[in-house]
Amino acid sequence: MYRTHTCGELRPLHVGQTVTLAGWVHRQRDHGGITFLDLRDRYGIVQVVADPSRPEVHAAQEARAEWVLGVTGVVRRRPAGAENPHLATGEIEIEATRVEVLNPAKPLPFLINKDEETEEAVRLKYRYLDLRRERMQRNIILRHKVVKFIRDYLSERGFIEIETPMLFKTTPEGARDYLVPSRLQPGMFYALPQSPQQLKQLLMVAGFDRYFQIARCLRDEDLRGDRQPEFTQLDLEMSFVERDDVLDMVEGLFTAMVKQLLPHKRLLASPWPRLTYRQAVERFGTDKPDLRFGMELYTLNDIFAQTDFMVFQNVLKSGGVIKCIVAPGCADYTRKEVDDLTTFCKEQGAKGLATLALTAEGVKGTAQKFIKPQEEQAIQSLTGAQTGDLVLFIADSAAVANKTLSALRLLFRDRLKLADPNLLAFAWVVDFPMFEYNEEEKKWDAAHHPFTMPKMEDLPKFETDPSQILSDAYDMVLNGYETASGSIRIHRPDIQQKVFQLLGLKDEEIQAKFGHMIEAFQYGAPPHGGMAPGIDRLVMIFADEPNIREVIAFPKNQAGRDLMADAPSPASEKQLNELHIRLDLKKTD
Ligand code: AMO
Ligand code: AMP
Repeated sequence: MYRTHTCGELRPLHVGQTVTLAGWVHRQRDHGGITFLDLRDRYGIVQVVADPSRPEVHAAQEARAEWVLGVTGVVRRRPAGAENPHLATGEIEIEATRVEVLNPAKPLPFLINKDEETEEAVRLKYRYLDLRRERMQRNIILRHKVVKFIRDYLSERGFIEIETPMLFKTTPEGARDYLVPSRLQPGMFYALPQSPQQLKQLLMVAGFDRYFQIARCLRDEDLRGDRQPEFTQLDLEMSFVERDDVLDMVEGLFTAMVKQLLPHKRLLASPWPRLTYRQAVERFGTDKPDLRFGMELYTLNDIFAQTDFMVFQNVLKSGGVIKCIVAPGCADYTRKEVDDLTTFCKEQGAKGLATLALTAEGVKGTAQKFIKPQEEQAIQSLTGAQTGDLVLFIADSAAVANKTLSALRLLFRDRLKLADPNLLAFAWVVDFPMFEYNEEEKKWDAAHHPFTMPKMEDLPKFETDPSQILSDAYDMVLNGYETASGSIRIHRPDIQQKVFQLLGLKDEEIQAKFGHMIEAFQYGAPPHGGMAPGIDRLVMIFADEPNIREVIAFPKNQAGRDLMADAPSPASEKQLNELHIRLDLKKTD
């Protein structure tokens, strides 16, 4: 028998019992000839004491970090003063009667027992070692609990978990597809699903009424901290529902989850705040605002209607906006600090940054000489800016001003520690535009995806102004991240056709790509809608991690590589031949 107990479970109530444990050497040290081992497994760490006068425990002396040992011994109370309040097992120790080496370990590329910074590439190459660390174990276990909670909660509410294929056809979610060549049908390709979007809608046509899946999604897109090429969604869909039925279900799920799994976290508000897309962009410059703190954006076009400042005048004339935020307590920023902020704004695409510092000695800053006293008064009463604050202005197109000020807002959040890390500011953003104009390709794109229902009252705008069509799409945002998207779907073939046409899809193309959807909807499709929370992003936020890689057992690096298995890797001549593929590796850069 390898073990009677786990390392983490022993307590004073076990004192006097003989136990057998198995685990890794977390730490080994000698005190006056006696060997102390910290033995570790997933459940915790326990101290083992090996007295050299017993030959059966000699292995304790030769053992090194991360060796796998079997230990038998008697649980005893630690001597007074030797307790370790930081360990759950800290009141007891094991007096070893047998120590056996189950497997030695080579010296490790990094220490498991110290939370020292290890280079990302090394961590990912030795991911199985990195995963031994307490932080990673905690994250992966939290992820398991989150998924389990979802399964239980939704099952209790009539949802059915259904698997959908990985080998499928392109489903547009705005990214590039991963293609899989077919051996049996030369020249043909499956697409790995960017999401199960089409299939879940077809499951509604099939009458399953309430579906969910912990679904793997694959998207060939440029990676960043909150994006991986494969990631996991809680994909769900419901029939005979309106928007609020879906929002209420998901809000209920995460509210209950936080209460049970994250008692140290607080919800900003219940029910969650709701913003329209327009309000979110107007007030925070982004459709994924971090609502844990204020520092809202203000539009000053009216206040500056009569401005003499040429930069502002020109922007107003060209239909742009003048917007500002107020950085609390930053009026004493030096010239250099303001210059650095200006550089930051230019990196965001802005032409410049104007500032107004409300110091005790009067108004200063780069905009001081251009701003009239009554304008300054009006800004103060609109924004509530006070002595000691720094007002930051961007005059530009609405898109650039919003993007820049939103980035500045987050910069100050981090710099001034304005956001409580234990606050979860869930919110809904609703009423997204249906279409976005793609300037580069001179065509309309679906803002969410082409199966999203436009608002009924906006249908006439298909002929007049598609940019003004709103949709029944919604996002769940949390602490500045988009954590879920969804929509009420189109269930009428005529509206679906209209959307495809506006997106510039030709009839043959629609038929080839989505013929099966259009046909299915002609056999009695129920009104339906759903959404897909991103599990990786949510667990990342729940675990206070800065990157989704920290909550994925085996993630890819920023370049999309698996450094542990060294993938992607070349295919053999034979494999390629079977797939009728010939490589043409021209330089593309
Ligand atoms: P969407 O494409 O917005 O919607 O994706 C939903 C959620 O999935 C997460 N997510 C990602 N997480 C990690 N890495 C990525 N590359 C990545 N891309 C997306 C985000 C996002 O909010 N089928 C629709 C949903 C629906 O309409 O029901 C969809 O996939 O948290
Ligand atoms: P200038 O007249 O170009 O010297 O600019 C005067 C001040 O206005 C400087 O502090 C600039 O950084 C700032 N400024 C220039 N362009 C903009 C802009 N688009 N928005 C806000 N401030 C700007």
